[in-house]
Amino acid sequence: MNDDSLDSIFDKAASGTSLVVKDRRTLTIDYVPDRLPFRDEESKTIAHTLSIILKGSRPSNLLLFGKPGTGKTAVVKNVLHRLSVKGEELGIELTVPFVNAKSANTAYKVLHEIAEKMGINKGEKKLQVHFTGLSMGEATDRILEFIQRRKKLYVILVIDEIDSLVEKNGDDILYNFTRANERISTESFISLIGISNSLTFKDKLDPRVRSSLSEEELVFNPYTIEQLQRILAERTLLAFNEDVVSSAAINLCAAMAGREHGDARKAIDLLRVAAEIAEIERTNKVEEKHIRLAQEKIEKDTNYEVLRNSTTHTKMIMLAVLKSRNGNTGEVYEIYSDICRRIEQEPLTQRRITQIMSELDQLGLITSDVISQGRYGRSQKIRITVPHSTVKEALKEDSILAGVLSID
Ligand SMILES: Nc1ncnc2c1ncn2[C@@H]1O[C@H](COP(=O)(O)OP(=O)(O)OP(=O)(O)O)[C@@H](O)[C@H]1O
Ligand SMILES: [Mg+2]
Repeated sequence: MNDDSLDSIFDKAASGTSLVVKDRRTLTIDYVPDRLPFRDEESKTIAHTLSIILKGSRPSNLLLFGKPGTGKTAVVKNVLHRLSVKGEELGIELTVPFVNAKSANTAYKVLHEIAEKMGINKGEKKLQVHFTGLSMGEATDRILEFIQRRKKLYVILVIDEIDSLVEKNGDDILYNFTRANERISTESFISLIGISNSLTFKDKLDPRVRSSLSEEELVFNPYTIEQLQRILAERTLLAFNEDVVSSAAINLCAAMAGREHGDARKAIDLLRVAAEIAEIERTNKVEEKHIRLAQEKIEKDTNYEVLRNSTTHTKMIMLAVLKSRNGNTGEVYEIYSDICRRIEQEPLTQRRITQIMSELDQLGLITSDVISQGRYGRSQKIRITVPHSTVKEALKEDSILAGVLSID
């Protein structure tokens, strides 16, 4: 490749013109369209619940459930945005901190982010919640003290991916926030919206937290394939130049994203990656073949990332399955132990290995079939379900394993 062709790539990127995409922003993860087809009922229910805030009453806490990509985050962001605008028009002091517990990662960071988003950290020094340094109790107290002192401040706190907070840190924060109003003696109050894609999330909560957090509940159902088609068609109008995306491509995209459960995120991701592939091909059409290639690329990227980030022993087990001839459990164990010996690692117990294998099975990286061997009983045959090249590439990056990868 010469300098000119590199320059032309950069020039094209800098000029931002594309034959395919009109507005790339509308295909990004964070983009929330103004219109969310098929979510009118859910939006209205949430808006109704929250609307009493405009009359100065505390809305019920709300718990939203639904599989990934069913529009929970998008709907809540949309409704809250409109509520904030309305609140401002009416001169109501309303704040709607939105935190994602999964990306915040620790309970303390959740509190820090709440303080940031409520503007607490720009105010009085005594109430600030810095990046580190306070106990959880003290951090919560400061946030509540801030609300109390404002006399008439209405807070709707949204905790997205709330299941990840509870899983890692228990439900102390939730307990404190659901009880907060008992402690606030001014007209200020706080309501909570929790969003979760795990339907069993509630079982992990202390009964007291459970009942107050789920004063109201709403379930988001997966989209049907027809609904995904409409969602994609609308997004296509926003994102692409006219006549770029064929309707066959949209239909295939919807069918693929709806295969397990109707996931709008998956559908839009497919469309974005397909567009990127079409752009690299320098064609101005996004066709079915681009959607298929996009699916392969996304799958490969996810499998690669999962494997790359797994523990060395998990990788060794994958390698053992890869090297085994008949996929028989005994043989896999043997190869695994042999790899351990070569790289001077203590092998894990059989029980732990079985556990890891079932995790790999759940992730769709391996599969095990039970095979009947007539009068010799039955045995398990384990196979890798992703391209071997992906496994090898991901394992190659582990310096401990690099040496054994090439040995047959
Ligand atoms: N009804 C809809 N119309 C248009 N776009 C939608 C609709 N529902 C979801 N989307 C889009 O699909 C993507 C995923 O939606 P969202 O993030 O709201 O899903 P979610 O239910 O919060 O998923 P998760 O549980 O994984 O967080 C977003 O890009 C969103 O804009
Ligand atoms: Mg979400």
